[in-house]
Amino acid sequence: MNKRVVVVAGGGGFIGGHLVKKLLDLGTCHVRAVDIKPLEDWYQVSPAAENFAGPADGDARDFRVCRTVCRGASDVYQLAADMGGMGFIENNKALCMLSVLTNTHMLLASQEAGVKRFFFSSSACVYNADKQVNPHVTALAEADAYPGLPEDGYGWEKLFSERMCRHFREDFGIQTRVARFHNVYGPNGTWRGGREKAPAAVCRKVIAAKASGDHSIEIWGDGTQTRSFMYIDDCVEGIGKIIDSQIYEPINLGSSELVTINQLVDIAEEIAGIKLKRHYKLDAPRGVAGRNSDNTKIKSYLGWEPSISLKQGIAATYRWIEEEFRKECNAADAKSLATSGYSHGSKPIPGDGYVAESKHMDTWRQGIPLGYGVPG
Ligand SMILES: NC(=O)c1ccc[n+]([C@@H]2O[C@H](COP(=O)([O-])OP(=O)(O)OC[C@H]3O[C@@H](n4cnc5c(N)ncnc54)[C@H](O)[C@@H]3O)[C@@H](O)[C@H]2O)c1
Repeated sequence: MNKRVVVVAGGGGFIGGHLVKKLLDLGTCHVRAVDIKPLEDWYQVSPAAENFAGPADGDARDFRVCRTVCRGASDVYQLAADMGGMGFIENNKALCMLSVLTNTHMLLASQEAGVKRFFFSSSACVYNADKQVNPHVTALAEADAYPGLPEDGYGWEKLFSERMCRHFREDFGIQTRVARFHNVYGPNGTWRGGREKAPAAVCRKVIAAKASGDHSIEIWGDGTQTRSFMYIDDCVEGIGKIIDSQIYEPINLGSSELVTINQLVDIAEEIAGIKLKRHYKLDAPRGVAGRNSDNTKIKSYLGWEPSISLKQGIAATYRWIEEEFRKECNAADAKSLATSGYSHGSKPIPGDGYVAESKHMDTWRQGIPLGYGVPG
């Protein structure tokens, strides 16, 4: 049987790694996974995939790389982005906006190669900030992205790239799909280093507090901010359903189980069997006051919405982080891992993505901002 060729850009990342595995499990796809990180830094490596890794072969800012990986492909999943949790995106706006290069070149190369379906991972950060000022939220429906007032930097780039997908579809005919992910979490993702998101950070802090014996926890903001969090299995299932659908407008892909950050900590504490003294860091990045996913549209299109409970998902995530912690950390690390840090204005990976001599030059390690998970 001739397998159809599918491309996962950002395949070395958290969601990309899970998606590659799922596509391979279908047994009907030849999967090309593409990521600027060297293979040893990928969260999951599927040997059955064709892996394009590192700055020379896997930088999706480089149009030549995009052309190579899109050739003969039927579907492209564009997940590659320079991003992280709130600490990262609030402090690295220029870097986040540079993902426009990746989105532009992947879309252009897909169009040129006659790719049938193009999936773009947008974000709940596109929503108008004025609609997220109260923790007692009205869930965000797709129309709430306009008039445009998205998260500065990261959100503006996503909103722009959503529009680019739409216009490529209208003007050039490529079948684009756009999903707005709401806070995805789960095993095999970032849990330390500055790019991690709230669920992983909270699990790590609880694990670190247990390990160090200092039974306290630092929480960013006052803990009353509300969010919904989607477990990775729901996310990957939703991506599959959306690309198989005829949904051409941007659509929410998120859980509608709303919790405060304090409730998220309660869940992690319960799993750990511990109660911690809470310290609120009020000057830390905290994002909007409240945000939830209105799932009316996805339910009406698909008769489906993410349903894995936060308790269930956090239990699996906690266990995975605990295992990683055990492998990588000692009691001395536990103290530093009990808090979160962020650095401002990290420099972009140098160049425009095309470095002729990069096969002989470790541009990744030279240019990568601190906190990207690459040691020293
Ligand atoms: N995780 C979430 O909660 C969430 C929420 C909303 C949207 N999203 C979007 O989903 C996508 C995947 O997110 P994730 O959580 O897996 O993040 P991630 O950081 O784990 O994965 C992104 C991957 O893209 C790669 N990348 C960055 N620049 C690249 C380039 N120039 N060429 C090739 N690869 C490059 C990174 O190395 C990384 O491995 C991103 O587009 C992100 O913006 C994620």
